[in-house]
Amino acid sequence: MRLHTMTWMEVDAYLKEQNGIIVPIGSTEQHGPIGLIGTDSICPEVIADRAAETLGCIVGPTISVGMAQHHLAFAGSIALRPSTLILVIRDYVLSLARNGFERFYFLNGHGGNIATISAAFSEIHAEKSLNPGWERPHVRCKLANWFGFESIRSLSRELYGDREGSHATPSEVAVTQFAYPGHIKSVAMDPAPPRPRAFLDADDYRSIHPDGRIGADSFLATPEAGGRLVAASAASVVDDYTAFMKEA
Ligand code: NI
Repeated sequence: MRLHTMTWMEVDAYLKEQNGIIVPIGSTEQHGPIGLIGTDSICPEVIADRAAETLGCIVGPTISVGMAQHHLAFAGSIALRPSTLILVIRDYVLSLARNGFERFYFLNGHGGNIATISAAFSEIHAEKSLNPGWERPHVRCKLANWFGFESIRSLSRELYGDREGSHATPSEVAVTQFAYPGHIKSVAMDPAPPRPRAFLDADDYRSIHPDGRIGADSFLATPEAGGRLVAASAASVVDDYTAFMKEA
C-alpha cells in the first residue's frame, strides 16, 4: 500500500503492528533514444508496489530526483548535488522516525545514487553516535538495488547477454514498457559501441556517449521481458525485506 493513499489514523494503526517501510529512490535523467526520463524511478516504484502486495507493508513516496549531474547535457534531466540528496534522505527518514518508523528499506534504481545513499545513511547513524541521548536510537536503513539481485543479474544475462550494457539497458527499458505500455517508443539506432573510458562531467559524458546510452542495446527491450524482470525482482525484495525486518 502507498503511504499517499492512507490516512494518518491508518498509519498509526500500522505502526502498532510493524515499523518498516520501503522507499523507492531513483532519478530523472535521459535514458537514450527510447528510454523514458523517469526510468530509474519507475523501475523501483513498480517493483516496490508488487513486493508490498505480498509483504503488506507501506511504500513511501518515491524520491524521484537523484544524483545525476553527468546527464545534464541532455534535455529533461534533473540533478541534485550529492550534498542536497544526503539532506533529502536524512529529513525523509527522520520525519517518519519521529512517529515510530524504524526500518527503512531503500529500493534504488540508479547506480549514480549508491555512494550518496550510503553517505546519507552514515549521516543518519551519526546522529546517534554523536548524540548519545538521541531519542530515536533504533533507526536502521538498508539499500538494495532492484537490478543488483542475483535473480535479476542472471535473468538479464539470459535475456540480453553482453548487450545489456550499463545505461539505458534493455532490462530497465523493458520494465518501463511493462509499467507504461502506452509510452513505448520506437527510434532507429545502431548497437551501442563499447564504453571507451569513465566519464567526468555532463559535457564529457555527452561527448563520449552521444545518444545517451552506455553499451546498451535498449531496442531489445520488450514489455513481456519487463514483466518477468518485475516479478523476479519483487520476489527478491520480498525475501530481502523480510530478512531485514528480522535482523537482530
Ligand atoms: Ni537507469
